[in-house]
Amino acid sequence: MSLLASLASRRRILAGVAVLALVLVLIAVYLLFINPDVLGASDDQPIAFNHQAHAQNGIQCQYCHTGVDNSPVAGIPSVYLCMGCHEYVATEHPEIQELTGYWERQEPIPWQRVYDLPSFAFFNHAPHISAGVSCGSCHGDVANMTVAEPAVEMTMGFCLDCHAEQENKDALYDCLICHR
Ligand code: HEC
Ligand code: HEC
Ligand code: HEC
Ligand code: HEC
Ligand code: HEC
Repeated sequence: MSLLASLASRRRILAGVAVLALVLVLIAVYLLFINPDVLGASDDQPIAFNHQAHAQNGIQCQYCHTGVDNSPVAGIPSVYLCMGCHEYVATEHPEIQELTGYWERQEPIPWQRVYDLPSFAFFNHAPHISAGVSCGSCHGDVANMTVAEPAVEMTMGFCLDCHAEQENKDALYDCLICHR
């Protein structure tokens, strides 16, 4: 090989390596700073809400998730509901001062969703609760979580595994009850 040709091919290899390195850096930047899911979106809640601290004080799930017995959505409590207690409780706690900031600015708290079914799948809490299915069979032991984490992957297989054990299995396997 002539000296000129070998220099040219070395330059091409170097350029290739530089492009590869740049791509890797961009991927790393995306993963670490742009896509919060990689680090666990639940670590990024605007306020470090602690389920365990509330369960230990005897506060029932339904006190905050008021829709769960009678509607499709369980509902996330408003700042107003929080302030019913935190105007007096743990007022020196830095997270409660942050909570109070939302209240004073009359801003909703931008909670990150832990579970989010695709919109083509229909789910309704109410019939599950009235059939005696516990929160824990779908959400895990939330009462002992400091940060609400996804306990199960809400796939179609997860739904159908339990429906298969029910008496009216055939009705609960009908595509159209979940895909309307
Ligand atoms: C004092 C109010 C309060 C009580 C009591 C409470 N929660 Fe929550 N819950 C919240 C708030 C606020 C969020 C949103 C922040 C978060 O995800 O941690 C939430 C989030 C959740 C989520 C995740 C929702 C999603 O998909 O984003 C589940 C599941 C849940 N709660 C279940 C329960 C269960 C089960 C209980 C009873 C053991 C319970 N909660 C008791 C306030 C409460
Ligand atoms: C049969 C499974 C199942 C049971 C039982 C169940 N959930 Fe859920 N829950 C879900 C699914 C699925 C979603 C996501 C719904 C969506 O994204 O549309 C959800 C979402 C939620 C959310 C956030 C969204 C919303 O609906 O406001 C909260 C809060 C919640 N559940 C609380 C509870 C509590 C409290 C109980 C018990 C009283 C409970 N769930 C029982 C399956 C269940
Ligand atoms: C029914 C009363 C009640 C309601 C409603 C309530 N809390 Fe609490 N909260 C408590 C009690 C009691 C404690 C424990 C205080 C302590 O240990 O000093 C607590 C503790 C906390 C803490 C400190 C947790 C820790 O790690 O020590 C935070 C943050 C908090 N609550 C946020 C919220 C938010 C956000 C809401 C609304 C979604 C809410 N609370 C609704 C009663 C309540
Ligand atoms: C008990 C509720 C339920 C029933 C019954 C059900 N599905 Fe689903 N299905 C879901 C949920 C929840 C998802 C979204 C989660 C997922 O992708 O796994 C889904 C997702 C799907 C998808 C998209 C899959 C993907 O990879 O994105 C298809 C296609 C589908 N279902 C077809 C069907 C057909 C056909 C039937 C009847 C034989 C059926 N489903 C019955 C709950 C159900
Ligand atoms: C742990 C068991 C269990 C799991 C998990 C479960 N289901 Fe169910 N599901 C039930 C039971 C029990 C019923 C009520 C049967 C009855 O009342 O006849 C039901 C009923 C339903 C119905 C019919 C409600 C109505 O209007 O009559 C739908 C829709 C449904 N489930 C969707 C889902 C979806 C979507 C998922 C997954 C995200 C899911 N279910 C996961 C046990 C479960």
